[in-house]
Amino acid sequence: MNFYIKTYGCQMNVRDSNSAAALLIEHGWSPVETEEAADLIILNTCSVRDQAERKEIGKLGFLGKLKRVNPSLIIGIMGCMAQSRGEELLNRVKHLDFAIGTDRIHKIPEIVDAIRKERIKHGSFERAGADTPGIDAHRFDGAESPFSAFVSIMRGCSRYCSYCIVPFVRGPERSRSMSSIVDECKMLADHGVTEIFLLGQNVSAFGWDNMAPPKDDATSPFADLLNAISAIDGVRRIRFTSPHPAYFSQSLIDTIARNDKVCKCIHLPLQSGSDRVLKLMNRPYDSAHYRSIVNRLVAQAPEIAFTTDVIVGFPTETDEDFNMTRDLMNEVGYDNAYIFKYSPRKGTRSSRMDDDVPQEVKEERNQILLADLEKRAESAHAHLSGRIFEILVEGPSKRNSARWMGKTDTFRQAVFTPDGIVKPGDYVRVKIGRTTPTTLYGELL
Ligand code: SAH
Ligand code: SF4
Ligand code: F3S
Repeated sequence: MNFYIKTYGCQMNVRDSNSAAALLIEHGWSPVETEEAADLIILNTCSVRDQAERKEIGKLGFLGKLKRVNPSLIIGIMGCMAQSRGEELLNRVKHLDFAIGTDRIHKIPEIVDAIRKERIKHGSFERAGADTPGIDAHRFDGAESPFSAFVSIMRGCSRYCSYCIVPFVRGPERSRSMSSIVDECKMLADHGVTEIFLLGQNVSAFGWDNMAPPKDDATSPFADLLNAISAIDGVRRIRFTSPHPAYFSQSLIDTIARNDKVCKCIHLPLQSGSDRVLKLMNRPYDSAHYRSIVNRLVAQAPEIAFTTDVIVGFPTETDEDFNMTRDLMNEVGYDNAYIFKYSPRKGTRSSRMDDDVPQEVKEERNQILLADLEKRAESAHAHLSGRIFEILVEGPSKRNSARWMGKTDTFRQAVFTPDGIVKPGDYVRVKIGRTTPTTLYGELL
């Protein structure tokens, strides 16, 4: 029996899809590359913006056509939209067989088995603990990278940023135990994984579930976790996403800056550079605090690169507010930024505010920030010409298979000509020549 999972949304969903696939494979299912070849299709859904939900519902409608051709096909949804709208969709969409919430991944094989025996619709939406057996299963069938792995360190989010649906769909913060995470990383290292990518909606609050932001001199359980993972032989790089700026104590800053295995590329979601808007967003930091985190990191680790998330067109955002965001972004000089146009989400606090920034203004602000970013990436990359970087080799480049690509410690994409000996997963040194805003081109040393 064959299955196909289509994943929408963030890395958390990618990780959950991999777990679901691992469990299905353990239960005798085989992954296939196309929907047409599948006996079971699962959509792993995202709710973060309205556009995402529309796309997913469109896709779900389309799957009805496949079911007409193949009536034994099982169709299910998982993930964030399944959590919030699963019951409604089970009632409304005739060809939908099951909907499971964000904490029910470990139940998938059982639910699918039950449907094969008897065609009744299944909905399952309860919450589960962070270390629930099976929920974080890994697959070693070659589909996941054999040398880089996502590790989920906590479930849910309790920040309630006023615009965000995630706490509603993913539930409250539940950190896993340090020992189970470290054991998982050791197991991955034993399988040849050298790069660990830690995931959570608020990773800097690891071990501080549901707590208000700490004082600057607080010891950080997340920093302890980074140090514990870096002590594992075989682990060479540790990345993480997403940390929340309000949970950066000095000890976390010191650990990120000083621990050589912690990659010097930090995703630090800004959301807005205007203190007035940050307050409305319920982001408990101001632009001065954000700057101070950046400056303290740069002071100790001058090569560090930053990426960020920004929302344009939050209710009441004026040109002046927007320009504060723009200025702060130019000041930090991000390597990359994900810029989102504000989308009101049902049930969130900001959805009760008037969505008063016109669509064209949101679009214009979006384009201005994208143009700034491109200009900045061009000159930042040009400065790297002549430098030597250690690259984790991924394999042939998508655009030209005679060239290979990999990533620097700062997560920049580097392309080089292979020498016939290098393999995916190797760490090699590359001297950079030509650069573009997205890519560094170099030669193997
Ligand atoms: N936990 C992560 C983000 C998860 S959602 C963090 O705090 O960084 C990813 C990004 O989507 C957010 O950072 C935010 O920029 C954006 N986002 C969330 N809700 C949104 C909304 N209603 N409209 C537009 N963008 C939104
Ligand atoms: Fe959403 Fe805020 Fe939690 Fe991030 S920290 S997931 S933006 S509520
Ligand atoms: Fe989307 Fe859920 Fe991630 S809403 S962004 S898939 S946590």
